[in-house]
Amino acid sequence: MEAYFDEYGESEWHRFDRFALGAVHEHIHNHFLQRFVQPGSRVLDIGAGPGRFTQTLDRLGCRIVVADISEVQLELNRRYGVEKGFGASIEGYLKLDICDLSSLPAASFDVVVAYGGPLSYVFERRDEAAASCRRVLRPGGILLASVMSLWGTLHRHLAALRDLPVSSMVDIVATGDLTPDNDPTSRHKCHMFHSSELVELLRGHGFSVEALAASNALSTNLEPLLLELRQQPDRWQALLELECKATAQPGYVDGGTHLLVAGRAVALAA
Ligand SMILES: C[S@@+](CC[C@H](N)C(=O)[O-])C[C@H]1O[C@@H](n2cnc3c(N)ncnc32)[C@H](O)[C@@H]1O
Repeated sequence: MEAYFDEYGESEWHRFDRFALGAVHEHIHNHFLQRFVQPGSRVLDIGAGPGRFTQTLDRLGCRIVVADISEVQLELNRRYGVEKGFGASIEGYLKLDICDLSSLPAASFDVVVAYGGPLSYVFERRDEAAASCRRVLRPGGILLASVMSLWGTLHRHLAALRDLPVSSMVDIVATGDLTPDNDPTSRHKCHMFHSSELVELLRGHGFSVEALAASNALSTNLEPLLLELRQQPDRWQALLELECKATAQPGYVDGGTHLLVAGRAVALAA
């Protein structure tokens, strides 16, 4: 994964700008940050990438530790921090694997943000990752994570049913894993979650789940319409507001390409 994101480099900053759907995705993720992050919070942004959400955390008045497994992404985050002016809120840049945060003191953060799939990229090590996030959070602190979602990704990329052997699709759905074995055409490897699996993961590691949402719900696979609506600020704003409401509905939670979760760190037994 490190090599994949090293190579991906600069494109990672622009990933929300390539499609109008990306702007909706960014809005829903920001909405979750605005809802759960208090001004003045000390935040670990793990898997921060080049910093689109580090920038939001800066705007929310946080003190931030930026961490990533990729040196290239850390360097981009440092560069964009200077260019866009969010670098002053950053206490440090650390090369860390979400599965091993042992170099950070326990209970030292109010918030851990793990957006854009770090929990999906670690596959079967996700228990280690969830436990690591819980350890660095103070009791009452919050984990905000987004992971790849199985059914919503399938909906977004249903054309794969035409392009891949049916046995591959069956395997992807059965395991939730996208790998070179079941999809040799994709360089993107990750575990795609069901919402129930994500809830179980967090509950098993000392979190109570306060909110779940999809990203995106209403607007998936409607790019021409989104481009049209984007030209009309009042209608675009209305769409974003509808998305935020719809994505939180139980009937939609598994329907987005990503699943967002807010997990509150409960006090652990001594
Ligand atoms: C899709 S990007 C998301 C970047 C940013 N958080 C966002 O949502 O825009 C995923 C990031 O997770 C990082 N990553 C992948 N596996 C990781 C791991 N095991 N530990 C820490 N970071 C990881 C990648 O290097 C990459 O920067």
